[in-house]
Amino acid sequence: MADASGVLRVSPVIPVVTIDDPQDAVPLAGALVDGGVKIIELTLRTDSALTSLKLIAEEVPDILVGAGTILSPGQADAAVQAGAKFLVSPGVTPALLRHMLSLDVPVLPGVATVGEVMAVLEEGLDSMKFFPAGPAGGPSYLAAIGAPIPNVQFCPTGGISLATAPDYLKLPNVACVGGSWLTPADAVAAKDWARITSLASGAAVLAR
Ligand code: 3PG
Repeated sequence: MADASGVLRVSPVIPVVTIDDPQDAVPLAGALVDGGVKIIELTLRTDSALTSLKLIAEEVPDILVGAGTILSPGQADAAVQAGAKFLVSPGVTPALLRHMLSLDVPVLPGVATVGEVMAVLEEGLDSMKFFPAGPAGGPSYLAAIGAPIPNVQFCPTGGISLATAPDYLKLPNVACVGGSWLTPADAVAAKDWARITSLASGAAVLAR
């Protein structure tokens, strides 16, 4: 279905979140909303991730919940069934991309090279996750891609912090960034939702 351009406009930062205990899912999502961040990419890296996804989709209507770390068609199906409103993959294969595009939600595929960008463009998408942003080349690499391919909007993710996010967000081909810094593991373990709200507040006002 459609590309993810609307998803990229929701917030300057998409929090990339891994939840172990589904009991944390709703208060964590609520803490992000309270800080002004109304989107969450929940990674499918834990056995209970789909349970957490379903809880957020059902109980936190103010947040746009997507599923990240989609590696297989089966995971994409399960995520949509659990209520995912968009799908994010760290990279792409032709089979996975085509399967995700057959589903009724926006798709944000991961790319790290110019050839991968071109392959995703061939499938009709011009919104992409640039992953892993720091190790793959950072802002200067993205700026260089923008010269020959100015019509792609990226969400760089991987190795980005509150301090480095502006270096990406000032680029014309960056719509938003992704990162796990809004939901540190120790804050989640301590159920310190106020700290997560505070981190979200700082991210929500970043200029782009
Ligand atoms: C990921 O998928 O792990 C994200 O890129 C998060 O990366 P970060 O922890 O470096 O923000």
